[in-house]
Amino acid sequence: MAYEVIRQPDHGRQVLIFESKEQVCRFTVDRFWEISERTINEWGRFSVALSGGKTPQDIYVEIGRVGQGMDWRAIHVFLVDERFVPPDDDRSNFRMIKKTLLDAIPIPVANLHAVATEETDPRTSAKGYEAELMKFFGTGPGSVPAFDMILLGMGEDGHTASLFPGVPDLQNDKRLVRAVEPAGARVARVTLTLPVINGARNVFFLVTGETKARTVRRVVEEQDPTLPASLVRPLEGALLFLCDREAGSLLDIDKGEAKSVSAGVV
Ligand code: 6PG
Repeated sequence: MAYEVIRQPDHGRQVLIFESKEQVCRFTVDRFWEISERTINEWGRFSVALSGGKTPQDIYVEIGRVGQGMDWRAIHVFLVDERFVPPDDDRSNFRMIKKTLLDAIPIPVANLHAVATEETDPRTSAKGYEAELMKFFGTGPGSVPAFDMILLGMGEDGHTASLFPGVPDLQNDKRLVRAVEPAGARVARVTLTLPVINGARNVFFLVTGETKARTVRRVVEEQDPTLPASLVRPLEGALLFLCDREAGSLLDIDKGEAKSVSAGVV
């Protein structure tokens, strides 16, 4: 599997541009198993936070297909964000992840960490999810947990998770989880905060399609600070942008150290 790579060592980021969305999927699934196996061998368990949206759905299906016969007892699945709708609503991220991945695998119910959206309100739900994170990671007030892996998407407006442009206090948020009430017709959301995302060991941005090309350029090359996606900079973890050719089409690959490598090299 060949793809082009731009390295940006100054920022500890890697941008990988693949021929197709299918290759983004294959690469991510391979890395999911590799990182989970390594982490379980080392620490005894693996925590992953998954995003909603359309881009990762094929990836979840593929992880579920490969993972049908696997042992999931050491794997814990959290949500990056949730739309504040009932669990059977089409817009529910947990519903989508359940249909694409969770229904296919033998994962214990106790390992599924959904965001409550019934008989509560967004702020109370965010507090509850924060408490769940603290319990799981064994962290006290003021400490940021370290997810082993977080899969993020990116909106055309530069949002990631449910951190939209204009949402205040993104960088120095003391919360682990917050409620966000976006303007317009969008429903309220509950989302991991930027410090939690930046505390993860492996953060993957999955971005495909030409409608995202301009945003990818603004985030990766211009590092436009008004776009929340630009603010994702894991303190110690790895950050990977995985784009298909269309999403990466406006990046100056000739200016960087662009080169073609095989998948095994990265
Ligand atoms: C959500 C997300 C959100 C998503 C982006 C990209 O719940 O919508 O978690 O941050 O990842 O909006 O969405 P697409 O993959 O559909 O483009």
